[in-house]
Amino acid sequence: MRFEIDGASLEAEPRPGQCLRTLLREHGRTEVKKGCDAGDCGACAVLLDGEPVHSCIVPAPRVEGRRVTTAAGLAPGDELHPVQEALIEHFGFQCGFCTPGMSVTASALGPDDLPDLDRRMKGSLCRCTGYRPIREAIMGAVRETTKRDAEAPVSARAPGVCDHGAAYSGVGASVSPEPARRVVQGQEPFTFDVAQPGTLVLRVVGSPHAHARIRSIDTTAARAVAGVVAVFTHEDAPATRYSTGRHEHRTDDPDDTRLLDDVVRHVGQRVAAVVAETAAAAEEACRLITIDYEVRPAVFEPEAARSPGAPLLHPDRTPADRVADAGRNVVAALHAGYGGDVDAALAASAVTVSGTWQTARVSHAQLETHGAVGWMDDEGRLVIRSSTQVPFLTRDELCHVFDLPREKVRVYAPRVGGGFGGKQEIFTEDLVALAVLRTGRPVAYEFSRTDQFQRAAVRHPMRVTVTLGATREGELTAIKLEVLSDTGAYGNHAIGVMFHSCSESISLYRAPVKRVDAEAVYTNNVPSGAFRGYGLGQVQLGVESAMDELALRLGIDPFDLRRINAVREGEAPLAWHDEPEHDVIWGSYGLDQCLDLAQDALRRGNGSVAPEGWLVGEGMASTMIATMAPRGHIAHTTATLRPDGTYAVRTGTAEFGNGTTTVQRQIAASVFGVGGERITLAHADTDVVAHDTGAFASAGTTVAGKALYAACLALRERMLQLAAARRDVSAADCALVDDGVQTPAGIVTFAEIVAAASADERASDGLVARGEEFGDVRSLAFNVHAVRVAVDPETGSVRILQQIQAADAGFVMNPAQCIGQIEGGVAQGVGSALYEEVMVDERGAVENPMFRLYRVPQMADIPDTEVYFADTDDDLGPFGAKSMSESPYNPVAPAIGNAIARALGSRPYEQPFSRDRVWRLAQQR
Ligand code: FES
Repeated sequence: MRFEIDGASLEAEPRPGQCLRTLLREHGRTEVKKGCDAGDCGACAVLLDGEPVHSCIVPAPRVEGRRVTTAAGLAPGDELHPVQEALIEHFGFQCGFCTPGMSVTASALGPDDLPDLDRRMKGSLCRCTGYRPIREAIMGAVRETTKRDAEAPVSARAPGVCDHGAAYSGVGASVSPEPARRVVQGQEPFTFDVAQPGTLVLRVVGSPHAHARIRSIDTTAARAVAGVVAVFTHEDAPATRYSTGRHEHRTDDPDDTRLLDDVVRHVGQRVAAVVAETAAAAEEACRLITIDYEVRPAVFEPEAARSPGAPLLHPDRTPADRVADAGRNVVAALHAGYGGDVDAALAASAVTVSGTWQTARVSHAQLETHGAVGWMDDEGRLVIRSSTQVPFLTRDELCHVFDLPREKVRVYAPRVGGGFGGKQEIFTEDLVALAVLRTGRPVAYEFSRTDQFQRAAVRHPMRVTVTLGATREGELTAIKLEVLSDTGAYGNHAIGVMFHSCSESISLYRAPVKRVDAEAVYTNNVPSGAFRGYGLGQVQLGVESAMDELALRLGIDPFDLRRINAVREGEAPLAWHDEPEHDVIWGSYGLDQCLDLAQDALRRGNGSVAPEGWLVGEGMASTMIATMAPRGHIAHTTATLRPDGTYAVRTGTAEFGNGTTTVQRQIAASVFGVGGERITLAHADTDVVAHDTGAFASAGTTVAGKALYAACLALRERMLQLAAARRDVSAADCALVDDGVQTPAGIVTFAEIVAAASADERASDGLVARGEEFGDVRSLAFNVHAVRVAVDPETGSVRILQQIQAADAGFVMNPAQCIGQIEGGVAQGVGSALYEEVMVDERGAVENPMFRLYRVPQMADIPDTEVYFADTDDDLGPFGAKSMSESPYNPVAPAIGNAIARALGSRPYEQPFSRDRVWRLAQQR
């Protein structure tokens, strides 16, 4: 058939049943993204004869003779469509995976659509932004109004910054991401957007049972399918056990996972893998694999799982494998306290409050699913291109599993379509590596959206019991915390999440007596893993709700109750800290400002009015977070001056919408006093720098950024020295200028400086300096969230009338991006507070493995967030910055829960606070 695409004619032969999206991508039109297969997310949107459609549900043969327009063809030549221009101007994307489809759908809107914009865009999901900048971009583009000033009300300050150069691209400015034009047109490649000739397709057979031993697998028929190249089972897999969860220290996670195992522990666990020339052949072969299971009893409730007589998931694991008590299914346990007998202290308290909160299983729902492509390069090295937050840690673990030296493996990440902690795991790279090493052929393994729900990690569901004792004046006398965390079938991140969740959550408040009893327990559920907030969101739901209950009981304003009890600067920062002394210090303190900013904004209101008959309540919550992971977070960076006066900077961190690469470029721009056009950045590639722990724990600015700052300062210093020596003057009298170094004896050009460098300090492309950071000291940051909600007692509907977040981010490196991180974290918090839940049936199977059934926030669901920054300046971070990516999520659900409680006079204890649950609460009034 023949059709027109972006003004050109294309001849194609669709396969039976093929959708338009797949056909377009197979013809290299990778600006059409794949986020689902059901028309739910909009990432694949194209215009068909001018009308927006989701190409994944359009049969390819239907476009014969018709006109298809993609994000790359919305405007002629190099031009952008006004919507695309506006998306850039308004910082309307983070990871950018939704953005081409979003551009296409929005391009079809006219002024008459604006009053109903939220509904018109409801088929276009964005998991990163919280929608405000997208909404404003579309409104602005369609109305042709002037752009919104993206600058936030912060004062830029940049010590060590040159004050000359091109248009300011340095720290403190809302600089757009360098690939913005390519992102909005869909031209910035993600993992599966680069063709690899001859790539085999990998498909997986999943277990139908929650717990079973595999007696036998017959792959004869599968191997006979035309196009099948190999079939792998547990008999082909290395015996080495490891964890899919990745940390700087591999011993932070239990060695409880085999690449393919002869025991399955959750529904959907991979049992066998087929690689074939085509997806159809691989899928047919999967259907022909016969597996004989010996079904075992399963356990899905964590309390039952740790009780005597429960089926044991990993009976052979020991504390040497980092499994605390396999005989009780307990991966990790924390039983600690100080100040004496907590029950006695509570009994002696004038007032006590207590409650038990239950959180849900939540999906990261990144628009780009997990996936990796692997091949052998010309030097016989295994190369993996992956949608990962941790390329170095992935490489190291692949070397461990396959017993390969590091120099024989390269892992790199192109732009990643959303992470949120979920890609701090190895879910596809291990199978791809096995298949590549065995076949010698390139292999691709891309999760479907259903795979993403069944095989990727979810947020740890937790049962959190909090008991607080206090004086009548509101001073806490005791805090007792009991936590039961469901890690699911494997212990990836179980230990870290549990310890972290019990740390900053109660260290935020002073009390003479504290006690924590926490356990993370195996069950036959889909595994839990790292997720934005890393457990704090769950435990802080309990702590902050209990604090609200205490405020109500005592008649004290909830902001004031925090002021009375919050840890002060200089006091011991973390309660259960068994790490090296001085690991956490007060680099700055902004909680007091955050409380004032949020309270003032709530008092001012925003004019939103509740519908008639709805009940209104206000709620708030405060949270604290350490600014990076404990026990070290390593970054190596380099900065290179090229003879032409451009700079090449290299870092290890991945870009998945966190804005890290933009901030890193800003750091270099600040130090060298140049515009961004003179800086190139290579990142997230194990071939580029020595080592990098990865982009998690919000470390891209505070660790890699700090290392890069050091490299840039060292390079600038060396440039001045070399120029000074060249003219026999003092370096103190020299300064960087546009075309070289200005000395009292004239300009020394960049080429002269590079030529003067010694062999030791020369890289292939110029004069190089190195920076490194080991992240062995952490600071603390705060977030205060406040909301006013309306609740319909007749239906249980909750509407957010006003939401505010005040953040203690230190010096704000890129205000528009930092606001975006906060808005995005808030949106995810709203989703998990009100409706997001991965449902599991009585067999342990996920019941809602698609966006249509698992609801992530749509544009209409997320009202604007008022964002305020404390004016703080951190001693540790580069330029005084603190991390601010995962923490904005944490206080949202407790603030909403507290607002619902105050509206109804009845408190929700089960998250999400869904309509049915809130309705039941309303009936109890
Ligand atoms: Fe929309 Fe990431 S920017 S999904």
